Amino acid sequence: MAAEPTTGINTEVTMEEIVALAKRRGFVFPSSEIYGGLGSTYDYGHYGVLLKNNVKNEWWRSMLTERDDIVALDSAIMQHPKVWEASGHLAGFTDPLVQCLGKCKKRWREDHLREKIEAEGGDPGGELRCPECGGELSEPRNFNLMFETHMGPVAEEGNSVYLRPETAQGIFINFKNVLNFARKSPPFGIAQIGKSFRNEITPGNFIFRTREFEQMEMEFFVPPDEVDEWYRKWIEIRRDWYLDLGIRSDFLMVRPHGADELSHYSSETSDIEYLFPIGWSELEGVANRGNFDLTQHQEHSGEKLEFFDQQSGERYLPHVIEPAAGADRAALAFLVDSYEVEEIEGRERTVLRLHPRLAPVKVAVLPLFNKEGMPEKAKEINQTLRAAGIQTEYDSGGSIGKRYRRQDEIGTPWGITVDFDTKDDDSVTLRDRDSLEQVRIPVADVPGEIAARLASPWRSPKPG
Ligand code: GAP
Repeated sequence: MAAEPTTGINTEVTMEEIVALAKRRGFVFPSSEIYGGLGSTYDYGHYGVLLKNNVKNEWWRSMLTERDDIVALDSAIMQHPKVWEASGHLAGFTDPLVQCLGKCKKRWREDHLREKIEAEGGDPGGELRCPECGGELSEPRNFNLMFETHMGPVAEEGNSVYLRPETAQGIFINFKNVLNFARKSPPFGIAQIGKSFRNEITPGNFIFRTREFEQMEMEFFVPPDEVDEWYRKWIEIRRDWYLDLGIRSDFLMVRPHGADELSHYSSETSDIEYLFPIGWSELEGVANRGNFDLTQHQEHSGEKLEFFDQQSGERYLPHVIEPAAGADRAALAFLVDSYEVEEIEGRERTVLRLHPRLAPVKVAVLPLFNKEGMPEKAKEINQTLRAAGIQTEYDSGGSIGKRYRRQDEIGTPWGITVDFDTKDDDSVTLRDRDSLEQVRIPVADVPGEIAARLASPWRSPKPG
């Protein structure tokens, strides 16, 4: 079934189908399951780790390998508490919380309830009732999303620290260190991937909104008069990143924030949104943070954070354009966008049409039967591919049809089958996940052929 952009819902697949496949095929499990689970935390299994690593590697590739104006950073999760005072997170990183005063006592985000009413054509300014039991709701109160803990063996006043709610601040507080070693001048960027933590009021929708998640953030420092140009450029660059990795263009849009949605640090933000089964939702935000963060840290720390332009003799605080993405949310979008159930010769197959560079396993190496030297030859090919740095999976269990279907479900783009003829013609069958085309190629050509296919541009065969 096609998506229905008019209704704003992706009807090709449900979130339940994605959750079921993720568990069945070892991508993502509910965390602490043997103890009954811990709400909205997830553990990544083998294929999930490979998929998310590929997402992160593609991000690094686009930031570090394909350009030379960005450097990497990996800052600590726990930072001096003054960081969060300066950044405004202690005072302003809050969501409006309302609680049901009726039967169910559930907690809700007031802004989400009003957005939903508006999307359904109602009056968002009117009186709110509990969506669960219809009960009266409390007055909204601002709830700070930062997780607080204590440093040292005893919890006492003055040793509170916070788990970072964004990776960005680690970049701002290292701005001076990076300037000193990196020999860069604006425009240049500092990129970081790492865990962030938010005590979300209403986590949910699988790995879309969790309390522990991974961010991929880059702060791009620019001269003040170049800020508009770079804001536009980064929106385009980041949108193209998703498209190049196979997200279909009908399922992706850029939505500028209204003034009432802007974060406390941002003068303009555009979200790159994906049409999830829950509707159009943020994948990534591109924000113009101005010089808010550097100004704040300069004031609170007393350290000069200005850039000295030797050519003009000018000192200034660079402005910042920030593309901020979520690795888990991106992985979810790639899973949703690639999921398809189709009928082939009267049989149903579930396939993840993932971009080959994102696919957890690139090649399944399969002996047709466990006899006549086929397993040995297949293992040899498997080893050669692995030595060439290609993620493979050797699988000899079950009928060949079942093994293909298992690989289709985890998105493996190619299968190599060793059969009766291999020992005579030293060739194997190469099967393509999407077209189901099977070609015969010499064993010696396998690594080169796979490397060439991996390097080729790829487009999803799904409509949209
Ligand atoms: N430094 C800016 C910043 O953190 P954000 O829009 O709050 O901006 C950036 O977060 C991205 O991080 C989001 O677009 C989303 O992909 C991801 N993200 C944020 N909160 C999340 C959560 N609770 N669970 C999963 N991903 C989240």
